Amino acid sequence: MKKHIVLLPGDGIGPEVTGEAVKVLRMAARCYGGDIEFQEALVGGAAYEAAGDPLPEETLDLCREADAIFLGAVGGPKWASIPADKRPEAGLLRLRKELGLYANLRPVRLFPELAGLSCLRPDIVAQGLDLLVVRELTGDVYFGQPAGEEVRDGLRHAFNNMIYNEEEIRRIARIGFDAARQRKKRLCSVDKANVLASSRLWREVVEETHRDYPEVELSHMYVDNCAMQLVLRPDQFDVILTGNLFGDILSDEAAALAGSLGLLPSASLSGLAGTGGAGLYEPIHGSAPDIAGQDRANPLAAILAAAMLLDLALGLKEAAKGVEEAVRLTLREGYRSADLARPGEKTTGCSRMGDLVADRLE
Ligand code: IPM
Ligand code: MG
Repeated sequence: MKKHIVLLPGDGIGPEVTGEAVKVLRMAARCYGGDIEFQEALVGGAAYEAAGDPLPEETLDLCREADAIFLGAVGGPKWASIPADKRPEAGLLRLRKELGLYANLRPVRLFPELAGLSCLRPDIVAQGLDLLVVRELTGDVYFGQPAGEEVRDGLRHAFNNMIYNEEEIRRIARIGFDAARQRKKRLCSVDKANVLASSRLWREVVEETHRDYPEVELSHMYVDNCAMQLVLRPDQFDVILTGNLFGDILSDEAAALAGSLGLLPSASLSGLAGTGGAGLYEPIHGSAPDIAGQDRANPLAAILAAAMLLDLALGLKEAAKGVEEAVRLTLREGYRSADLARPGEKTTGCSRMGDLVADRLE
């Protein structure tokens, strides 16, 4: 059956890396027998320019009908001072919210070929790095009401609300425990329960949910300590379960451990994989406007996000493994995009990098 994928290239390097992901998806379909159809739509700054809205109704409608959504990146300095609800990021946040994509999976792995790029000490890198950040994506201070700005006693105030209800916590906890069950069966829930009421509820509900997953070992960690432990001893983590804001921060930190933000994919789902609803697949990096349009971006995060799409949205597990293997092979043969190259090392452009992966897949 034909699978319908909506492409949202977005801004900056988004279109370039999306192009390479599509190249690889087409090749994967050819080699592994998938039938994929693509349709492109506007999001982010590109949509704002064309339609005055970072998430036009038409885009949202297409996404609702899709089997999977692939997004490049959104944002850029050009839109830094337009009203908050028109900013490119607001389009992405609304897309997540409208489609109920509450579960964000961010796997962090270190390719042995790139061990030298990690910001960690070699003896720490040698312990390995293979963890999964499960980030709640449609709640927390990102969406909590009330939020806004007002003048009180002659002073400008601005506020956001860090709020979770128990159902929001329970459903993401289930995703976390379920993922841990399929991995090394260790789940570390990260919060700030020594200070925040929403974190205390978080911890309580995670413990209640744990009763259904006795085979998973549960631990709790404060977010400040977690930020430190990630650089001191990352191998202690298997699955990190956390809220929207902490997950945003910790996943960028974890990416630096893996060598580059240009390597990490993510999937945003509305439930356990395969339980219906289109997932959104994207690299975790941003739009990198400083290098946009120069064929210098690293498409590997986007290509690895395409692998997650093949696995989780289309059920093509072998194809997904094939793509990951092709990426590994490309790196093993010494090809490096600019972000992965050491000073003086020869670099490979975005488009060529995509070709190399597609060739190796074939
Ligand atoms: C991410 C990004 C987004 C977020 C931005 C672009 C709104 O940083 O996906 O991690 O904060 O969630
Ligand atoms: Mg982020």
